[in-house]
Amino acid sequence: MTASKHISFTKIKQDVALSNKKLPLLQRYEQQVSDNIVNFDSAQWTALQTLQTLLDELRTYGEKLTPIKRWHWKSSPVTMWEGLYLFGDVGRGKSMLMMWFYEACELSKKRRVHFHVFMQEVHQFIHQHPNQNALPLLAKHVRETTQLLCFDEFFINDIADAMLLSGLFNALFKQGVIIVITSNYHPDNLYPNGLQRASLLPFIDLLHIKMAIIQLGGEQDYRLTKRIDSKTRYFFPLNLQTKLAISQCNAAVMFSFTDLCGKPKGARDYLTLAAQIDTLVLTDIPQLTAEKHNEARRFITLIDVLYDHKVMLICSSEVAINELYCNGKNKNDFERTRSRLIEMQSIHYPNLF
Ligand SMILES: Nc1ncnc2c1ncn2[C@@H]1O[C@H](COP(=O)(O)OP(=O)(O)OP(=O)(O)O)[C@@H](O)[C@H]1O
Ligand SMILES: [Mg+2]
Repeated sequence: MTASKHISFTKIKQDVALSNKKLPLLQRYEQQVSDNIVNFDSAQWTALQTLQTLLDELRTYGEKLTPIKRWHWKSSPVTMWEGLYLFGDVGRGKSMLMMWFYEACELSKKRRVHFHVFMQEVHQFIHQHPNQNALPLLAKHVRETTQLLCFDEFFINDIADAMLLSGLFNALFKQGVIIVITSNYHPDNLYPNGLQRASLLPFIDLLHIKMAIIQLGGEQDYRLTKRIDSKTRYFFPLNLQTKLAISQCNAAVMFSFTDLCGKPKGARDYLTLAAQIDTLVLTDIPQLTAEKHNEARRFITLIDVLYDHKVMLICSSEVAINELYCNGKNKNDFERTRSRLIEMQSIHYPNLF
């Protein structure tokens, strides 16, 4: 095939992909099932119906949408949902469905953002507006640029966030901001055993009142079904062979685990790094025992950020992925990390959806 033919074929594929993104969600799903790209999953199908309902409503009311316009037309005078909360175990397709929803949404003022990045902005805003009722002011600012706010991977592990959330979401809903969330946790199970968990309860109540809560309860972690690349990018144990394999990656940016996760670093540092690189070589990952829960927490955040930014990861580790973290207080969240580390070895990564 000549280069020009190759380019035009690529262009056709891109055009088709683009037009698929504009299809109604159920039609896009049917098409992907018939093309054997996704397996039919009844929980996803049901979730897509609700997402499509919200899309249709956004399309009908568009920019004019206000909470007052959203009074339920059929029954009791309760407001329609002002958001949607999609939860389920790892690899059930939550981010995929949210991405489809986001792509199909015609609103120009929309934003998909990692929840922790958004919360950093919130804390910064509050810091810059002392002695003021900052949350309503912030919500007003947000609404000027954003009518639809999508938070992928919502979880709470910070008391400062937990205490703010009820006021923050209340203010955003009052401004008519529509919020769509994906999470590994049912709202009632957010922030498990967290410090002063009672302060989160008004927020959980608010989620129940305002949002459609949908579970993706399928049996399958789809990440584990992906074909693994024959050329592994996860080397273990830490022996001479692993060292040799890693030394051949000298073109890529390289950090040791201690550099990135053994020191007080956080989402902001990882975001800065991920925005600048295509590939990261991470060396000498130790087995994360229960005492290393701070390192484990940082590693979870690092992998979330790299995955979200489609960064290729090559690493060397003391143990196999399944033995990296077996016990400790981050065990639940580490399930996501484990699932992602496996998917990051697949031939499809980083072009997943
Ligand atoms: N029905 C399906 N058939 C085949 N592959 C699927 C299906 N649904 C999702 N996938 C694929 O599975 C992978 C994981 O999906 P996704 O990232 O959306 O999961 P998730 O629920 O957001 O996981 P996490 O909780 O870890 O964030 C993606 O590569 C996605 O394309
Ligand atoms: Mg996800």
